[in-house]
Amino acid sequence: MKLANVSGLAAIAAFATLSVALLPRTDAAGSAQAGAEKAAVCAACHGQNGISGNPLWPNLAGQQEQYLAKQIKAFRDGERSDVSMQPFVANLTDQDIEDLAAHYASLSPCP
Ligand code: HEC
Repeated sequence: MKLANVSGLAAIAAFATLSVALLPRTDAAGSAQAGAEKAAVCAACHGQNGISGNPLWPNLAGQQEQYLAKQIKAFRDGERSDVSMQPFVANLTDQDIEDLAAHYASLSPCP
């Protein structure tokens, strides 16, 4: 391979790396496995498999990951309020939330 080609490839690789770093995140940031462990407390209301047994508690299984993370953050930060939800999410870190969202998104929406 000619030297010019090699440096061309290097430039493309550098550009690709930079683009990935600069683009808004659309990839999965959380770990579904870590989220499964953190979800033990949520299961009381949202069900072991993300399907709720109470018509006033939403199913979370199979919901969009980014939507889930956005809603959990909204509860934590007080933008969305619900007396039964707030205490369970009040102390979650962003990483906890990403993991929980990845976990619930990975579950099947069909019971
Ligand atoms: C005591 C019951 C209870 C527990 C425990 C609980 N939730 Fe909830 N959750 C609710 C209720 C009730 C709502 C609906 C609130 C509303 O009507 O706005 C809700 C809503 C949500 C939503 C929004 C769903 C949507 O479609 O917008 C998410 C996401 C969620 N909970 C995640 C969690 C996570 C993650 C945990 C554990 C850290 C958790 N919840 C623990 C009762 C609970």
